[in-house]
Amino acid sequence: MKTFTDTAFRVISFLPPEQARNVALFGTRFVKQTRVVDPTRLNQNIWSLLFSNPIGLAAGFDKNASAIGNLSKMGFGFIEIGSITKRARDGNSQKPRMFRLKEDFAIVNRLGLPNDGLDSVERRLRHHFNKATRSANSTIQKIRTVLGANIAPDPDSIHDEGLCREEMISCFKALQPIVDYITLNVSCPNINSIGKKIYKVNGVAKLIEAMREAEPGKRRIPLLIKISPDLIQTDYFNFADFAKSGGCDGIIIGNTTLERYPSLRSPERNEQGGLSGKPLSNTIDDMLKDIYKHTEGKVKLIGCGGVFSAQDAMKRILSGASLVQIYTGLAYKGPKLVDQIRFDFSTLLRQYKLESIEGAVGKAVS
Ligand SMILES: Cc1cc2nc3c(=O)[nH]c(=O)nc-3n(C[C@H](O)[C@H](O)[C@H](O)COP(=O)(O)O)c2cc1C
Repeated sequence: MKTFTDTAFRVISFLPPEQARNVALFGTRFVKQTRVVDPTRLNQNIWSLLFSNPIGLAAGFDKNASAIGNLSKMGFGFIEIGSITKRARDGNSQKPRMFRLKEDFAIVNRLGLPNDGLDSVERRLRHHFNKATRSANSTIQKIRTVLGANIAPDPDSIHDEGLCREEMISCFKALQPIVDYITLNVSCPNINSIGKKIYKVNGVAKLIEAMREAEPGKRRIPLLIKISPDLIQTDYFNFADFAKSGGCDGIIIGNTTLERYPSLRSPERNEQGGLSGKPLSNTIDDMLKDIYKHTEGKVKLIGCGGVFSAQDAMKRILSGASLVQIYTGLAYKGPKLVDQIRFDFSTLLRQYKLESIEGAVGKAVS
């Protein structure tokens, strides 16, 4: 039977993509609390955080933390807000700047990191958590969704490594006491990062060292880096070695790609920007396997790119990801996707004769 959410999702899918995302974000307030407690075979304890299931919302959907309460009703094990920059940004001025590649189950975007800026997002998060504490008896609060914040170098400061670092440290210090983990987005394809130190492993190492020195309080927050699927092996192994030596706590693989695969069929395939969705699947699986093997499974990996079903998510996990994230799959399949994946996981685990998600991590890596 079609629900109100199914019908609304169908209507939204006819809107221009950027408008559709905004309406969908607003529409999350009508999502029913379908969440049931995840079975323990889906639970994992990573970085001392309890992930009730391995499915996360990727950065870019709720850039400004305007819907975290409603999004958590959809069944996500974790939600990543952002990317956030110190100053508010409108992003690239020329519109349209987001395109559906329907025939390829993909999206191209060149949004250019629009967001409300650190102060607004911090205020919104504090308001959310004050409210959440007041209604601490609600089901959502009992099934707490892990919350990450993704922070990025401001494209307008990228020419100045010192300024960039200062701005990112401000974001880190303000968000560290509020969220569960922080991701450094050092892979946005829509800014001119060529030769910029902040995007290279040495620049990232320097940045993280400064963040750790500036870290408020005693808590050491998990710090992840999000890398590009366009990196060559030497570069992604550099990041992997850095993580393995304790430089950061995990790697998200990965962001959108500038690559245009010959298999793409949609008329919009040559639009400039980062490509996401189904066409990324093999690249992400190969990179996951390569990094998992290189680091002997010692670095926590998040697989992000091309997840449209439980089978896709399981593939990323078997390739070495402990957790997965979704964006484009949600845009094509709607909010029910998360529940569907959680439900189908149990069947898949039985099929693979595995007892838990944790036991499935890296099983396809030889
Ligand atoms: C419209 C759009 C905006 C995005 N914005 C961000 C962002 O602000 N920060 C970020 O780290 N990734 C961003 N991403 C990348 C996604 O988080 C994800 O890495 C990528 O889309 C691959 O996953 P998918 O195939 O499930 O979409 C964005 C993706 C899309 C489609």
